[in-house]
Amino acid sequence: MNSMKKNLVLFASFAVIALSACKTAPQEDYSWVKKGIDTATEQLKLTGEEVKGTEQLPRSIRTGYDMNFLCQQLERDSLTFKDSLRAQPAAEDLGKRRLCGVHDWTSGFFPGTLWYTYELNNDEALKALAIDYTNLLNPVRYYKGTHDLGFMINCSYGNALRLSANDSIKAVMVETADNLCSRFNDSIGAIRSWDFGTWNFPVIIDNMMNLDLLFTASKLTGDSKYKEVAVKHADTTMKYHFRPDYTCWHVVSYNNDGTVERRQTHQGKNDDSSWARGQAWAVYGYVACYRETGDKKYLDFAQKIADMIMERVKTDDLIPLWDYDAPQGENTPRDASAASVTASALIEMSTMVPDGKKYLDYAETILKNLSSDAYLAKVGTNQGFILMHSTGSLPNGSEIDTPLNYADYYYMEALKRFIDLKGITIQNL
Ligand code: GLY
Repeated sequence: MNSMKKNLVLFASFAVIALSACKTAPQEDYSWVKKGIDTATEQLKLTGEEVKGTEQLPRSIRTGYDMNFLCQQLERDSLTFKDSLRAQPAAEDLGKRRLCGVHDWTSGFFPGTLWYTYELNNDEALKALAIDYTNLLNPVRYYKGTHDLGFMINCSYGNALRLSANDSIKAVMVETADNLCSRFNDSIGAIRSWDFGTWNFPVIIDNMMNLDLLFTASKLTGDSKYKEVAVKHADTTMKYHFRPDYTCWHVVSYNNDGTVERRQTHQGKNDDSSWARGQAWAVYGYVACYRETGDKKYLDFAQKIADMIMERVKTDDLIPLWDYDAPQGENTPRDASAASVTASALIEMSTMVPDGKKYLDYAETILKNLSSDAYLAKVGTNQGFILMHSTGSLPNGSEIDTPLNYADYYYMEALKRFIDLKGITIQNL
């Protein structure tokens, strides 16, 4: 063979090898996504049917607490926090599903989870449940007693608006946004969170999550006033809620002139610790502010918080301990809800920054782990919730190592964001 022929033969052999390599190259394995969606579908149908007719919504499973364990987690003695403890559930209620009324801060999550899961798989039975449970929340449009109106109405009616719009949905959202704005104090530059307690004007980091309702109301009405309130709240929070290392306090209370009255925790280990879900609310909130305003300062801030979270969460599976400063140990409860909120935020943020891949990879690891047997419930167990192992409020002795409806909601939202970004659909999983 002359050398030209030899080269041609070589080229042809390489081409055959390359082509067959392409054909047999292993596809990314996303079976864990399918497992998550299938589990959610079954669990939601089961719960949706069982709870129907009670006029309530599923929230968590009732757990009790052991005082010695709380003292060890908080590194305090029982006397220093006994006033904050909620009553133990009655013995016969332990392990049972905890339902909530429509005015509970978590009422929007169950309908919202139904909407996301319906969006993922087009299952009409889920849509019917989503409509029923969303309609249940109609009276919330007259409620002004909390900042959580954003969580309640944006997660339920907000998703209904995206997936099955009608004029009455718009009316509920705008009316609720007006009520949320009625809690805004212009001299302080923030929305008041709570009406209980001894604080003068408490604002909690969670309140960043209510701003999406206001951004939506501005888009629906063409009136910028809602967005202006959201932006002022975000700016005030950015100024006063964060420490130099980008961790945040849970509660900041203001004096009437806008100066800080107190910085405290309500659900974290202590005033200066980093409560895991608070850090997650923070990054999610500022990603949303960038999405809605295009103001780069919010994105830069969100990225700083994300980097801090990635640095501070030390668990192998990236599901954080309930507080970053909690004792490191086998028995320290995790908070799957903080993980799912973080995953959802980081997937969105990964599309906004040049080095987005590291945030997407991090979120993917969280989601894969949440979709494993360690966190994802087996169908028919876990009182019909999707994920296990979240923590609601440990210092109050409430919802420790339990499923929570908001862990489920942000898990489904994150799965939806993830498969959209990867260009996967349920059909090709
Ligand atoms: N918004 C209350 C909580 O995160 O537990």
